[in-house]
Amino acid sequence: MSAVRRTVPESGKPTTEKVQSIFQVLAPDYDRFNRLSSLGIDRSWRKRAVRLARVSRDSVVLDLAAGTGDLTMELAERGRPASVLATDFVEEMLDVARAKAAGYQGETVIDFAVADAQDLPFEDERFDVVTVGFGVRNLPDRSANFREVYRVLKPGGRYVVLEMSRPPFGPFRSLYHFYLHTVIPTLGGLLTGHRGSFEYLRDSILAFPGQVALAGELHKAGFREVTWRNLTFGIVAVHVAVK
Ligand SMILES: C[S@@+](CC[C@H](N)C(=O)[O-])C[C@H]1O[C@@H](n2cnc3c(N)ncnc32)[C@H](O)[C@@H]1O
Repeated sequence: MSAVRRTVPESGKPTTEKVQSIFQVLAPDYDRFNRLSSLGIDRSWRKRAVRLARVSRDSVVLDLAAGTGDLTMELAERGRPASVLATDFVEEMLDVARAKAAGYQGETVIDFAVADAQDLPFEDERFDVVTVGFGVRNLPDRSANFREVYRVLKPGGRYVVLEMSRPPFGPFRSLYHFYLHTVIPTLGGLLTGHRGSFEYLRDSILAFPGQVALAGELHKAGFREVTWRNLTFGIVAVHVAVK
């Protein structure tokens, strides 16, 4: 049995070791799986998140759980802030991101750092905007992440959370859940040979709170304005929380 298969959970509850081992193994195939499983729509979700981040030319941006860097690059290419610091706790994912950034010709300074999104090695009030794309649902302790982001944001700074969510319309939700149960593990297994990892990723989507509950958690962490936009009928939501 592979290391990843040994770490397949009974539910979507993440642990640090489990999540790290899954992404270490999936790193080379992660982008291909994303494009195929979402039929390329994932790109438009990240573009929308960048628009909602409202970065300016002087913004100092932190991208958490940046993985292979798709949101980081979208921020640099479309948002064009002064800098984006891409962080993740899996080097193999960041290596793919570094290769993408090597071809970047714009003016945004792109840097990389290994960091746990629940315990950020940055001083207070350093960033204007913090983003996270499809990373929050893998955190064992979301409240620690929200506390840390609140700490490192400047007053008035924005936390943009792009994440899988809960389609509000019941019949569409049933169809989507059928897709999650059938297509995701099968396609993931065929593309990577690690079906168990995709069963975990599916379970983590199903276990993640809906839009209202997530907004409540952000409020509880101290953010004063919390709004969200549903994308693709609520399969995905972008929450924006202002410090
Ligand atoms: C589904 S990928 C998302 C990558 C990228 N943001 C995107 O939009 O495609 C999730 C990433 O979160 C990272 N991650 C999970 N838990 C983390 C943590 N506690 N600290 C830092 N990164 C974490 C994983 O290593 C993985 O690269």
